[in-house]
Amino acid sequence: MSQDAYIEQNKDRFLQELFDLLRIPSISADSAFAGDVRTCAESVAAHLRSAGADNVSIEETAGHPIVYGEKMVNPAWPTVLIYGHYDVQPSAPDELWTTPAFEPNVRDGKIYARGAADDKGQFFMYVKAFETMMKTDSLCCNVKFMIEGEEEVGSGNLGPFCVNNREKLKADVILISDTSMVANDCPSIDVGLRGLSYVEVEVTGPNRDLHSGVYGGAVANPINALCSMIASMHDENRHITIPGFYDDVLETSAEDRDAMSRIPFDIEEYKTDLNVNDVLGEKGFSTIERTGIRPTLDVNGIWGGYTGEGSKTVLPSKAYAKISMRLVPNQSSEAITELFKNHFESIAPAGIKVEVRPHHGGEPVLTPTDSIAYKSAAAALKDTFGKDPIPTRGGGSIPIVALFEKELKTKVVLMGFGLDSDALHSPNEHYGIFNYFKGIETIPRFFHHFAALNKS
Ligand code: BES
Ligand code: MN
Ligand code: MN
Repeated sequence: MSQDAYIEQNKDRFLQELFDLLRIPSISADSAFAGDVRTCAESVAAHLRSAGADNVSIEETAGHPIVYGEKMVNPAWPTVLIYGHYDVQPSAPDELWTTPAFEPNVRDGKIYARGAADDKGQFFMYVKAFETMMKTDSLCCNVKFMIEGEEEVGSGNLGPFCVNNREKLKADVILISDTSMVANDCPSIDVGLRGLSYVEVEVTGPNRDLHSGVYGGAVANPINALCSMIASMHDENRHITIPGFYDDVLETSAEDRDAMSRIPFDIEEYKTDLNVNDVLGEKGFSTIERTGIRPTLDVNGIWGGYTGEGSKTVLPSKAYAKISMRLVPNQSSEAITELFKNHFESIAPAGIKVEVRPHHGGEPVLTPTDSIAYKSAAAALKDTFGKDPIPTRGGGSIPIVALFEKELKTKVVLMGFGLDSDALHSPNEHYGIFNYFKGIETIPRFFHHFAALNKS
């Protein structure tokens, strides 16, 4: 039987199995869900086994487990390592979901559920593509799976696992579907990801909450101070004012910027989708450039003082914020965190103490486009979509990718099938059934081209 016929014949089951996986609330950030995260790992392992993988194991870490499995058929064949993550972001705010986050629901050809696109729907395409190749006797590369449970919390335990298992993880390419393509009629391959510096700041004024009438006007208010400190970190051109912030930014060539300007993009549609009357960002760069090749600084959360019902006249003692900085090649997450810390401390007004606490980070990456692996992905996408894919730059981060290159010395190909509009990390996350099956069809084609190009 042909691969396409096998996929067609098993379509419903391929969907139902994904729905079962989506019903498991594998939220890595919340320890209350640790049992569900493990249940999800066991389910992934069971799927790998029944698809025909050998040496399937649940690898314990200091945090959530990693699922490993492999099919080593022929030492002369190239080896493809599949990476993905079975953990998901929290579902909150749950009241904004049209249907519950962990009860997959199909509307308008899309699967609505937390993790549908990021990343269960995407990594599971590989499990089903692998099953398809096994059942149609058409596997032509060795394959290894490494599906982790801590991507959404920074992959802190995967780095050590890689370092301790270099031999086991040896491969000719690491293939990942955890990014987006431009549109369903415009296939693309991400050739870069942004890095991340993430900090939490604590700003302290007086030693206790005060009556805002008795003391108001006489001592620094930490929330007022935090707001003006945050506001001062962008200038009128939306440049970040931290001294040295842009020093290591690798400028994008005119040729690459020109190519980016030709990526199909409808700014009006973008504004309508987000219900904003205008976009805002760094002067001198297009929206695609602002998310692809430029670094950012954004407050992710801010709190302090009284936020309950009614009013309470209080001058708070403390204010807090979580701040993320997206980084581009060749910025270093550690260096940027240090620059932020020094700058933030230096701009604290009189009467204010600040503390900066760094969280997990990740390095930006650029992936090669002249490799056999990239060419195989491009050829596979062309087979499926009838069009040459265009190289793009993803705005998100997958911190482990830089580590794969550094520790495993293996190059990565980011063959994502999602869309930026899939509401990743938001209420009503979804993934197109079209995208799910296009992925399952394309993956065996990648294997085919990768095997052929490695031989020639
Ligand atoms: N899959 C995303 C990253 C992504 C999405 C890259 C779309 C490119 C396009 C990943 O799961 C993710 O959300 N990463 C986090 C980083 C992590 C340290 C929490 C991110 O980008 O915020
Ligand atoms: Mn992801
Ligand atoms: Mn994510």
